Amino acid sequence: MNSAATTKPKVPDSCCFVIFGITGDLTHRLVIPALYNLAESGLLPEEFCIVGVARNELDSQALSADLMKSLHRFATRPVNKAIADKLLGCLTTVQADASDPASFTHLKNHLDGLAQDGITNALFYLAVPPTAFKPICIGLGRAGLLKQDNTHWRRLVIEKPFGTDLESARTLNRDLLKIASEHQIYRIDHYLGKETVQNILVLRFANGMFEPIWNRNHVDHVQITVSETLDVGRRGSFYDATGALRDMVPNHLFQLLSLVAMEPPSRFDAHSVRSEKSNVLNAVQVQTEEEALRNSVRGQYLGGTIGERAVSDYRKTDKVSPQSVTETYAALKLTIDNWRWAGVPFYLRTGKSLTAKRTEVAVRFKDAPLSMFRATEVERLSQNYFVIGVEPNEGVTLQFNTKVPGPSVTVDGVEMKFRYKDHFKAAPSTGYETLIYDCMIGDNILFQRADSVEAGWRIVQPFIEAWKKAGGHGLAMYKAGSEGPKEANDLIGRDGRRWRSIEPA
Ligand code: BG6
Repeated sequence: MNSAATTKPKVPDSCCFVIFGITGDLTHRLVIPALYNLAESGLLPEEFCIVGVARNELDSQALSADLMKSLHRFATRPVNKAIADKLLGCLTTVQADASDPASFTHLKNHLDGLAQDGITNALFYLAVPPTAFKPICIGLGRAGLLKQDNTHWRRLVIEKPFGTDLESARTLNRDLLKIASEHQIYRIDHYLGKETVQNILVLRFANGMFEPIWNRNHVDHVQITVSETLDVGRRGSFYDATGALRDMVPNHLFQLLSLVAMEPPSRFDAHSVRSEKSNVLNAVQVQTEEEALRNSVRGQYLGGTIGERAVSDYRKTDKVSPQSVTETYAALKLTIDNWRWAGVPFYLRTGKSLTAKRTEVAVRFKDAPLSMFRATEVERLSQNYFVIGVEPNEGVTLQFNTKVPGPSVTVDGVEMKFRYKDHFKAAPSTGYETLIYDCMIGDNILFQRADSVEAGWRIVQPFIEAWKKAGGHGLAMYKAGSEGPKEANDLIGRDGRRWRSIEPA
């Protein structure tokens, strides 16, 4: 996120963009279309090249043609031939086997050749499965490819998952930090590429009216929802070993939680912002396994219909065990042990095959006292919510009570809405542009730091352990196309509260 948001963004230094996994889905669907959009916006340096790395021998021209086809398919804007030709015309390839040190010497020679042409900076983008992270990093480290000095920089970009539990996340961080320093590492969580997610910081800290009431004196509770209509589809083998909790909570949902709950950073820079995010995650109470069981619900979908689409049982998905007890839905109640939030529950839920796609953070304020209305017909006031909508309606909604016109005193809940699309005409993007651009200008503000990643896993670890021990016991089934298992309503209902509806408006 360019801190000087009002000035024209600066063009990054010359750079060689090395992609491990050049033939993979992520490269075709997101990375190349995002690079194209940056090129179209004039945000790629004049001296720029792409080096594609893959295990099999590659023909640069054939690969380039393939990527061009994908660009036409996945581009978010009309493709300008000259810009696309220039972007993919700078592609060269290197065949490398991550377990073979000679491959990295070969890559080094290739990059040395490019350095002769003046491109000395390099960014290594690991668009590969997590099992390949370590061998690639070791190879890069041994070949000296991550060494930088004041004449050139080297950066490493990795995608989630950053581990599968606390222990593996610690090990991964330890391994990475042996070969590169923290500020060279860019851990991507694509939620931070979403404009509305970035806007949470600006909303909270660039306005004087929210912060005074953003605390336990005024907030009753916070709901964070990421509901998806998507089913598990062709990701059966990954998903069955992962589940909704690991797939979504320590990363995406905790990004939302930390931005909403953090203290104001003293400066708008990577160190200050990431430290406050980490502080608030460290203040989330780590529950015992017993508490975790009491404060959570996990569910799995059964067949149903979502709109016109028929969805079959999760257990019938290709590469999913027919006896699977993996959760496709998770709801948790967390508390934050600090002065701002003590006593304010944070309810989080996420699930697949639900009735609607909805990502939102809803801050529910405490009720006003009803006393003034005792002598009127008003029996209850509707709830005051401040809702940050991330998807599908990007914007902010404030729900408050107003008088219904007429002679008697009647009160009704109404909404004041701000929608991004009514005010700003942003060019359609993949959501990766800002992230890739920030890597190139060396701004880590939108990337996860090692300590935050570990803090996130520390919070979910008791849930992982408790659910593992419980096996199938306590797994709540829900129908595809519903709002999730009814047990999730009991979780929040126990506290006299209820979830906001996720039904499409
Ligand atoms: C990914 C998960 O990280 O995020 C997917 O692996 C999930 O399972 C996706 O569908 C959700 O992202 P978004 O941007 O569609 O909310």
